[in-house]
Amino acid sequence: KTAAIVGCPFSGGQPKAGVDRGPIHIIEAGIVTQLEELGWQVKFDGHHQFEEISDSLKEDPPIGILKNPRLVSRVTEAVANAVGGHAHRGELPVTIGGDHSLAIGTISGTLSQYPDACVVWVDAHADINTVETTDSGNIHGMPVSFLMGLGSKVPEYSWVKPALKTDSIVYIGLRDVDAGEKKILRENNIKAFSMHEVDKYGIGKVVEMALDHVNPNRDRPIHLSFDVDALDPTVAPSTGTPVRGGLTFREGHFICEAVYETGCLVALDLMEVNPSLADQVSVEQTVAVGCSLLRSALGETLL
Ligand code: ARG
Ligand code: MN
Ligand code: MN
Ligand code: MN
Repeated sequence: KTAAIVGCPFSGGQPKAGVDRGPIHIIEAGIVTQLEELGWQVKFDGHHQFEEISDSLKEDPPIGILKNPRLVSRVTEAVANAVGGHAHRGELPVTIGGDHSLAIGTISGTLSQYPDACVVWVDAHADINTVETTDSGNIHGMPVSFLMGLGSKVPEYSWVKPALKTDSIVYIGLRDVDAGEKKILRENNIKAFSMHEVDKYGIGKVVEMALDHVNPNRDRPIHLSFDVDALDPTVAPSTGTPVRGGLTFREGHFICEAVYETGCLVALDLMEVNPSLADQVSVEQTVAVGCSLLRSALGETLL
């Protein structure tokens, strides 16, 4: 079994500097060795360099209010090719962000190799704004709508196949969903377990219900996309859009452990670790929890 780390120092999907340093810190914290100790063969040949792409774009003016639209498109297309290539070779791509716009690429890559894959999206946010509903113009708040083909099309993103069906994603951890996003979730019958459901049923039941929805026979490949801001800010403070009332340390890990236990995991994302936000202790804590989530998703057990 081989895991291929796709390090994505990229921040173009949102305005705060520093999230591009997330993958550098996770690697420096020793994630490669940690995964090797779990029995994985780990491939990591350096972080992706997106400079060539940004240098080639002399200008990238907003399209509507979308910020850095061409840059995000080209970077995520490169990421889709990288992730798709690893998946094609039978490796498990572990993409470390970087902001969550990268999931346009990672999930496109997964679906190119596993068209029947489902997505478990763990996040405080739904990231399903369309061109019509986004207030911020930050593309990290929009990847799911791009993957589903919702909202009006941006020609620059014509490479993205609308391959993710509305019944093939399930959310866990939501608590900061924009009004327009709530409408999209409702109208498309998209399954979501907010923090309210985590409180009501407990994380064990929520994960079971979530998997029953997207993967009732536990035979579909699973792409787990984990935004570190799903965790409570006391657990993962160094992130760009923290929202109080999040998952505990154990709840976050339980999700990863349970997904691993299905034996269906084919791709993994860890996004939105921003080491330039918060103090040194908080940064180290966030990086450590990021590594620990990745280990849990790749088979680390408590006993
Ligand atoms: N809903 C807000 C927006 O669209 C926040 C999105 C935050 N997304 C994230 N990946 N942290 O701008
Ligand atoms: Mn988020
Ligand atoms: Mn908003
Ligand atoms: Mn997100």
